[in-house]
Amino acid sequence: MKRPQVVVAGSPEAFVEAAASRIVEEARAAVYVRGRCAIALAGGSTPRPVYEHLTQPEFAGEIAWDKLDVYFSDERCAPPDHGDSNYRMVCESLINNSPLRPEQVHRIEAERPDADQAAAEYGEMLPERLDVLVLGMGEEGHTASLYPGSPALDEQQRRAVAVETPAQPSRRITITPPVIAAAHSVLVLIAGEAKAAMVARALRGPHNPKEIPIQLARNGVWILDRAAAEHVYESSGAESK
Ligand code: 6PG
Repeated sequence: MKRPQVVVAGSPEAFVEAAASRIVEEARAAVYVRGRCAIALAGGSTPRPVYEHLTQPEFAGEIAWDKLDVYFSDERCAPPDHGDSNYRMVCESLINNSPLRPEQVHRIEAERPDADQAAAEYGEMLPERLDVLVLGMGEEGHTASLYPGSPALDEQQRRAVAVETPAQPSRRITITPPVIAAAHSVLVLIAGEAKAAMVARALRGPHNPKEIPIQLARNGVWILDRAAAEHVYESSGAESK
């Protein structure tokens, strides 16, 4: 198995800078090699300052905005203008402050009454291989809306499914393991000491994505702040915590 690449940032600013730089680099490489870049973005709070940073002049000028197609790793079943909506967060932090045109943004219509149908249509809309997939991780090891023990972790055909999660709101639509496996480049952004024990387990412990779903991204580039990386380089013990 390929080993993860781990980048540890020494300060919150360095974390944001490292993550934004890496997104720009990967997008540029995709445009160079394949002509366009299909990027799927994570929700949650960690990436918000990173997305905001991408709209700052020093980064914005480096991005071929007209060559991007923006997708989402998951969505909470709420209207797109609701405070829970990942789409809303990405609009506020990135899309509204960028030259992206509406037709370049492919949101998950998770507010529809038939979430299974919305997921099926989203799965059809996703490209065969994302160029860049940005993911986060919850303290218990979930990524996108793939939570430990979820039947969605066994999905091998469909590329997006509706799921019930232990989080709020509980109903969500998420990409599935084959989408993560097929992505050309996976960037995992994790910050905060509350996630440190799980980061160490995920990176150093036995491979069991059914229990630790973020291990599906173990071949990716993990960008961590110092607090999240605290146990990664300990000589022993961290992974059994
Ligand atoms: C979501 C996500 C989810 C997120 C993690 C980490 O919709 O919540 O996409 O997988 O990345 O829960 O979230 P935080 O960055 O808020 O800790």
